Amino acid sequence: MEPRLAPACRGCIPWNGLLLAVSLVTFWNLPTTAQPTIELVPFNAAEGMDVLLLVHNVTGDLLGYGWYRGEGVESNQLIASCRTDGSANATGPAHSGRETIYLNGSLLFQNVTQNDTGYYTLLITKNDLQTESVTGQLRVYPVLPSPVITSNNSSPVEQDTVVLTCGPETQNTYMWWINNQSLPNSTRLELSEDNRTLTLFRVTRDDTGPYMCETRNPVSVSRSDPFTLNVIYPVAQPSIEASNTTVTEHENTVVLTCRTNDTGISICWFFNGQSLLLTERMKLSPDNSTLTINPVRREDAGDYQCEVSNEANSSKSDPLRLDVKYDSTQVSSSGLSGGAIAGIVIGVVAGVALIAALVYFLYIKKTEGASDQRDLTEHKSSDHDQSHSHSDNSPNKIDEVAYSALNFNAQESKKPTSASPSATETVYSEVKNK
Ligand SMILES: *[C@@H]1O[C@H](CO)[C@@H](O)[C@H](O)[C@H]1NC(C)=O
Ligand SMILES: *[C@@H]1O[C@H](CO)[C@@H](O)[C@H](O)[C@H]1NC(C)=O
Ligand SMILES: *[C@@H]1O[C@H](CO)[C@@H](O)[C@H](O)[C@H]1NC(C)=O
Ligand SMILES: *[C@@H]1O[C@H](CO)[C@@H](O)[C@H](O)[C@H]1NC(C)=O
Ligand SMILES: *[C@@H]1O[C@H](CO)[C@@H](O)[C@H](O)[C@H]1NC(C)=O
Ligand SMILES: *[C@@H]1O[C@H](CO)[C@@H](O)[C@H](O)[C@H]1NC(C)=O
Ligand SMILES: *[C@@H]1O[C@H](CO)[C@@H](O)[C@H](O)[C@H]1NC(C)=O
Ligand SMILES: *[C@@H]1O[C@H](CO)[C@@H](O)[C@H](O)[C@H]1NC(C)=O
Ligand SMILES: *[C@@H]1O[C@H](CO)[C@@H](O)[C@H](O)[C@H]1NC(C)=O
Ligand SMILES: *[C@@H]1O[C@H](CO)[C@@H](O)[C@H](O)[C@H]1NC(C)=O
Ligand SMILES: *[C@@H]1O[C@H](CO)[C@@H](O)[C@H](O)[C@H]1NC(C)=O
Ligand SMILES: *[C@@H]1O[C@H](CO)[C@@H](O)[C@H](O)[C@H]1NC(C)=O
Repeated sequence: MEPRLAPACRGCIPWNGLLLAVSLVTFWNLPTTAQPTIELVPFNAAEGMDVLLLVHNVTGDLLGYGWYRGEGVESNQLIASCRTDGSANATGPAHSGRETIYLNGSLLFQNVTQNDTGYYTLLITKNDLQTESVTGQLRVYPVLPSPVITSNNSSPVEQDTVVLTCGPETQNTYMWWINNQSLPNSTRLELSEDNRTLTLFRVTRDDTGPYMCETRNPVSVSRSDPFTLNVIYPVAQPSIEASNTTVTEHENTVVLTCRTNDTGISICWFFNGQSLLLTERMKLSPDNSTLTINPVRREDAGDYQCEVSNEANSSKSDPLRLDVKYDSTQVSSSGLSGGAIAGIVIGVVAGVALIAALVYFLYIKKTEGASDQRDLTEHKSSDHDQSHSHSDNSPNKIDEVAYSALNFNAQESKKPTSASPSATETVYSEVKNK
């Protein structure tokens, strides 16, 4: 230090003199350190707020204040002025109607807009007409609207490069979130210099998101709605799993499951290459991934396939062969159900019994023919006496009655199928008429 100062002092100002000069400067600076300052309340203003420009540390006897727009005190930029004794107030050409000057020099600025951002200068006039000025800066920020994420590709396929943009463009800072987390450290992600665009390289089905972006300024933080990236991919081939591929008719339930690792897909089933027609014995799970056949029947034997598909494409599983075993010695080999078989057996037995009964009945009729005829004749004669007008005492009436009885029986045996009671009645009345 000394060697350096020595040449400067050589032959001119002595060291002592320099010290004195410094202290003088310090002394004269003292009053100016208490110079007036302007405080903004609030410091960062949002559009629409009221801002107070507070004046501090004004000293001495004051005459009045004047506020000007800008960094100078041009009269055409005067907003308002007042005398500190309140005897005179005035507004200037730069007054917008939203400013109020107070007797202590502070200025209230109501409903500020971004256009109000800028410098404001206060001119302080003392009683001795000396003036002092102090300048402050007002910053008004917009309340940020929710940003919106846009993609340059609404339906990218895997391996595409996708650019997401957070809009609208402002001078604010941007931040991104994926699945509610800040961006992971990945070589497939790249932010633009201003962080407003996010580039996703070689997208995969796992890059669905959701994505959110955030903009912030000193007065607000605003986050976008979640954005989902719909990455389309080729679905992988599914496979079928069966609870049992060799099953016994009527005894077993078969559960076929379509196995896939893909999500956001729909499933449909094929049987022997055709779209599967569901019978009442088949049930699909709500997502179609499992097919239950209960009970299984021999006609269910064949090749099953499931197909998974999304918007982009679809893929079918390899066929799965279902074998259904059945006992060929059973009556069921005719392909009829147990119920039908039982029905046939009962039908045959009933038919045989009916024929036997008919034969028996005919036999009885023939052997008991004589007594029957006698009864009928007696019956007829009593009827005839009471109500019937036309009577005949034909000599061969016995033969006729026998014939009628036979007819009656023939009609009776047909009754279940022909359902002709009128014919039976006719025969019966003929018999009565004899
Ligand atoms: C007013 O001036 C004094 C003296 O210089 C200083 O200590 C104080 O911080 C100032 N106040 C404001 C609000 O600027
Ligand atoms: C000037 O304004 C102050 C405060 O705004 C008020 O108290 C005073 O009465 C006004 N003076 C005149 C002459 O309008
Ligand atoms: C000046 O007056 C206004 C209105 O009365 C008041 O809000 C403000 O605090 C005052 N300023 C100072 C620095 O006291
Ligand atoms: C604030 O200013 C805006 C225009 O800049 C106006 O639409 C709004 O009505 C004002 N609000 C108040 C409370 O004066
Ligand atoms: C801001 O200033 C510009 C130009 O001076 C004007 O066109 C615009 O209308 C102003 N906006 C508001 C909100 O006052
Ligand atoms: C989206 O932008 C990326 C990067 O610029 C580009 O590689 C890609 O082809 C664009 N996609 C579409 C659909 O324009
Ligand atoms: C993500 O964050 C939002 C709001 O911060 C919350 O409502 C949502 O449940 C979160 N989602 C997950 C998956 O954490
Ligand atoms: C991100 O990964 C790269 C390379 O793996 C590494 O150099 C870098 O430090 C990582 N950055 C962070 C923030 O983890
Ligand atoms: C972009 O975001 C990173 C953190 O993700 C941050 O460190 C950087 O400052 C931001 N850049 C700009 C211009 O906002
Ligand atoms: C599959 O069904 C057959 C026939 O009912 C049965 O014998 C076999 O035990 C079953 N296998 C399995 C693994 O359930
Ligand atoms: C599903 O993923 C598992 C494990 O990665 C794999 O072993 C299996 O083969 C996949 N299944 C299908 C149908 O792709
Ligand atoms: C299930 O399959 C049927 C056709 O078999 C189809 O109409 C339906 O959309 C499918 N449901 C699902 C959830 O995939």
